Amino acid sequence: MQIGKVERKELAMLPTPLQEMKAMSRELGGPRLFVKRDDLTGLALGGNKLRKLEYAMADAEREGATCVITSGAVQSNHCRLTVGACRLLGLPCHLVLAGDEPDLPTGNLLVDSLLGAASVRFIPRTAEQKEPPAGPTPVRKAVDELHAELEAEGERPYVVPNGCRALHGALGYAACVREIAVQLHAINTAPDWIVTACGTSSTQGGLVLGSELYCGGEARVVGISVSRSDDPLKRRISEGLDEAYAFLGRLEPEHDIVVYDEYVGTGYALATPEMVEAVELAARLEGLILDPVYTGKAMAGLIDLVRRGTFRSDDVVVFVHTGGIPGLFALEQAGAFGPGR
Ligand SMILES: Cc1ncc(COP(=O)(O)O)c(C=O)c1O
Repeated sequence: MQIGKVERKELAMLPTPLQEMKAMSRELGGPRLFVKRDDLTGLALGGNKLRKLEYAMADAEREGATCVITSGAVQSNHCRLTVGACRLLGLPCHLVLAGDEPDLPTGNLLVDSLLGAASVRFIPRTAEQKEPPAGPTPVRKAVDELHAELEAEGERPYVVPNGCRALHGALGYAACVREIAVQLHAINTAPDWIVTACGTSSTQGGLVLGSELYCGGEARVVGISVSRSDDPLKRRISEGLDEAYAFLGRLEPEHDIVVYDEYVGTGYALATPEMVEAVELAARLEGLILDPVYTGKAMAGLIDLVRRGTFRSDDVVVFVHTGGIPGLFALEQAGAFGPGR
């Protein structure tokens, strides 16, 4: 099957712009750098999840859902965008968030409340649970409980897993590569590398699928982990690709899955000096605002890879700006930038 024939709900403003980062490239003495502006997908302040949610929401409608449940960290971009998508489709959206309820909602949580999440449950995190993107077990339990409660009230809840299903990410992000290839073709070139933040990993899985379908596998996809170590991520990406190829009924090639986990620092959403440098460089050289949790760390990885000579000087490298800007205004990040940090 061709991806274009898979049912989806139109949520994102596509295609997103592709911009050359000439000043950044000059500063690093590096390859030709471009940024794919998936932070500009539009709805509810935009970001990468909208491409995946287009497929998830079509699935929810097909299943006759009367409401949606999803989960993530307190500052989850995924949750913000799922509430936004549900708003557009007239579905109540319930959130289960890993972490303590703050006194003051800031960043994504503030937007969740503006969009009007139907309910929000906070699941305090214990000290040993450090990996919010996966949805720790107590969160999964809370999602199951909420599902049962809503069903008992006569609802048909549809659960969107944190970061969306691998299949929906694969479909959404394969199409992103097609856009990139068309946009670069228009200026007589093609992508050699595509670099992305890697959290739940389905964005990267989709980019790999897209490279294979639309670039003959010649655009190498590099994931910069923001939380987990590389091996489990590579496994997840590989399993997601198996599912996507089976769904599309296509023969599956050998995959080139590259994940770097050395830019995480001390943990998910915790600032590193390299992230701060990357966010400041992008802002000052390109007027490009990154977020501290995902794209800032991914850009720190890209900068380091350029400095280490990973790319040839004439390579075309596309950095996917996956969004996450509301996280910059979260209280938790207040100390990361500016004087006194
Ligand atoms: C802004 C942003 N960038 C990147 C990612 C990572 O995408 P994925 O979960 O598909 O790896 C996420 C979510 O996890 C995100 O919110």
